[in-house]
Amino acid sequence: MTPTLRRWDPADTEAMARFLASDTWPMHVNQYWTIEAARERVAAAEYGTDDAAWWVEVDGQVVGAVRVELHRDTDPTIDIRLRSTHRGRGLGEPVIRETCRQVFALGDHRRIEGQTRSDNVAMRRVFRRCGFALEGVYRQAWPLSDGGFVDSVDYALLRSDWETGTVTPVRWAEENDISRPAPA
Ligand SMILES: CC(C)(COP(=O)(O)OP(=O)(O)OC[C@H]1O[C@@H](n2cnc3c(N)ncnc32)[C@H](O)[C@@H]1OP(=O)(O)O)[C@@H](O)C(=O)NCCC(=O)NCCS
Repeated sequence: MTPTLRRWDPADTEAMARFLASDTWPMHVNQYWTIEAARERVAAAEYGTDDAAWWVEVDGQVVGAVRVELHRDTDPTIDIRLRSTHRGRGLGEPVIRETCRQVFALGDHRRIEGQTRSDNVAMRRVFRRCGFALEGVYRQAWPLSDGGFVDSVDYALLRSDWETGTVTPVRWAEENDISRPAPA
């Protein structure tokens, strides 16, 4: 199954709202969308202007969508949604890889970020396979529908790593060592 990306077009607003409202998103903060709420969200999110978005297609059928927040003062951030019928089938990695290729081609971005719930194992494995490194753990940062919280995790891919096929590790021990005096 080979996925392809098709750039979202403003004429697709209604189709995107229907896409969001036609499935469940258990690993997102909003797990269900009414069609009205989805329409508002798509309009407010300014798909195609501040954000870049693509449909994920297999054999010409839409099986998902990827959106990348492209704000001027922060790094691009990826949000991917595959239809429940197409999760767990190995599509995440090629979709994220192609998204990163397109985002790096769009501008002079040094990094691409992705944030997810710590228990979203599939997403975390896909990030890791695509060369993203774990950069942060935000304890109890992700709100749940029952009023509770789970940890949130932050991954990022460096353009330089993407170009060379490496993953520069975060120097956790060194960064966490504050016993030494600060350099003069
Ligand atoms: C998260 C998502 C993009 C992952 O893509 P995918 O194509 O479903 O993932 P894959 O089939 O390639 O699975 C990736 C890995 O996770 C594992 N995995 C998949 N589902 C899993 C689950 N429910 N629990 C534990 N592991 C799981 C797979 O076995 C695979 O392991 P491997 O690395 O050893 O091969 C996709 O499932 C999705 O869109 N989910 C709904 C929306 C979502 O969660 N988006 C992320 C929000 S930030």
